[in-house]
Amino acid sequence: MFTPPFPAPLESNASPLRRFFTSWKGWIHVHFKNSYTMKMGEIHVPKVNVYVPNELPLVNEILEDRQRNFPKPELLREMLAPLVGDSIFTVNGKQWEEQRDMVYPAFAHTRMKVAFPVMQEAVDDLVGRIGEMDLSQPIKVDPLMTHVAADIIFRTIFSVKLDAEGASRIYHAFHKFQLTAQPGAILRLYNLPMFGFLGRARRWARQIHSTFRPIIQARYDAYCKEGDAGPSDILRTLLEARHPETGEPFSLQDLINQVSFIFLAGHETSASALAWAMYLLAECPEQQDAIHAEIGDAPLTFDTLKNAETLRNVFQETLRLYPPVSFFVRSVVHQTEMRKKQISPGSLMVVSPWLIQRNSNNFPCPHAFQPERFIDPDQADACRQAYLPFGKGPRKCTGSAFANQEAMLVLGTIVQKFRLDYPTGQKPEPVSRVTLRSSNGIFVNFSPRA
Ligand code: HEM
Repeated sequence: MFTPPFPAPLESNASPLRRFFTSWKGWIHVHFKNSYTMKMGEIHVPKVNVYVPNELPLVNEILEDRQRNFPKPELLREMLAPLVGDSIFTVNGKQWEEQRDMVYPAFAHTRMKVAFPVMQEAVDDLVGRIGEMDLSQPIKVDPLMTHVAADIIFRTIFSVKLDAEGASRIYHAFHKFQLTAQPGAILRLYNLPMFGFLGRARRWARQIHSTFRPIIQARYDAYCKEGDAGPSDILRTLLEARHPETGEPFSLQDLINQVSFIFLAGHETSASALAWAMYLLAECPEQQDAIHAEIGDAPLTFDTLKNAETLRNVFQETLRLYPPVSFFVRSVVHQTEMRKKQISPGSLMVVSPWLIQRNSNNFPCPHAFQPERFIDPDQADACRQAYLPFGKGPRKCTGSAFANQEAMLVLGTIVQKFRLDYPTGQKPEPVSRVTLRSSNGIFVNFSPRA
């Protein structure tokens, strides 16, 4: 049984100061051993109480049954504002409903059969790029996976492909953004000065925007002047969207915010999951063989992927062990009682797929990589109830089917063309900032199959 790396839990007597500095590395580093099985945790920081519900009925209450009482907090909005402004991910209530009515129709372009040819072109380009690399050395897969995932969503939004320079700029700028935004949020949580973190976050966000801002500007101008909304893609549907009550279109800034979020959500999470899946496959050659036997060598089609159970299980298990969004934060707006505790307005709730999906009360051998658990009847209930990499309730991910299909196409194609193995030596270290990434990168050996 293979158990991939995860941070060693803190000693139970770790001081608040130690926890503060550990939190610098991200959310998953501040857990104790019993955090995985607790019903609900509590963290008290100056001026705010943070609760960590880890029992499924509580999680359902917050994300589904009484979700209106637990909106997304101001802290999340502030952390992501430099990048995505007030877009669909961070707003609440009526504002979210209005944005949902305007933005969700654009997801018609992510429907599986519509998106499949676009994905295939981007994956062919990925295979070409790998073929041009020096395969005698381990390859760092993180930027490769960012490039292919960003290219797929870029083509789906704008109908043009993302060049290597743009992909590299996005990879590096988002890495810096994560290093800036997450400690910034911790300082804010502890009510401490931000020490220029916000300015730096804005600078990295501007670099990411510079890749697509000119495209949006040009298409917006063409639409306003000539009524030409351009090719059939996400941007066109957003240009043509109208506010459900006022009938107004998106302003240029609104458009930039929504596109930035769809672009960010549509590639960074997928890239994180793909990089972890590559790591797990490289450590488990028997899984590569099983996938290869299942899908054969013919070009992958929509139907082959639909029936590729082993491949699907590997990706689902990757998302269980390494959920790209490893925690969701909500705020408490009304006095409420949970587990006989009085919880006051202004408190924060942190729902963590990282903890829930690694809780031994939900899954046996929770830290082990066991893709077969997704077809084990004894774990079927856990796989439905305690598995939430895409969230739960009305704010659940809109792109989950798209993400699953793209991941299966990327991973299946790579397994068809290459054998992967993991070089001896340093293991990747998961750190959870905006998304879950390896702090030291993920390096994999590729050898072309005969
Ligand atoms: C493996 C890949 C992905 C993962 C793990 C993921 C995860 C998530 C999660 C956990 C949420 C909800 C967070 C919360 O409740 O606070 C979310 C929301 C969202 N995701 Fe994804 N996502 C992925 C890929 C995508 C893709 C490819 C797209 C677009 C094509 C997308 C679009 C969205 C949107 C629009 C929302 C906001 C929904 C709303 O609040 O109305 N995601 N995602």
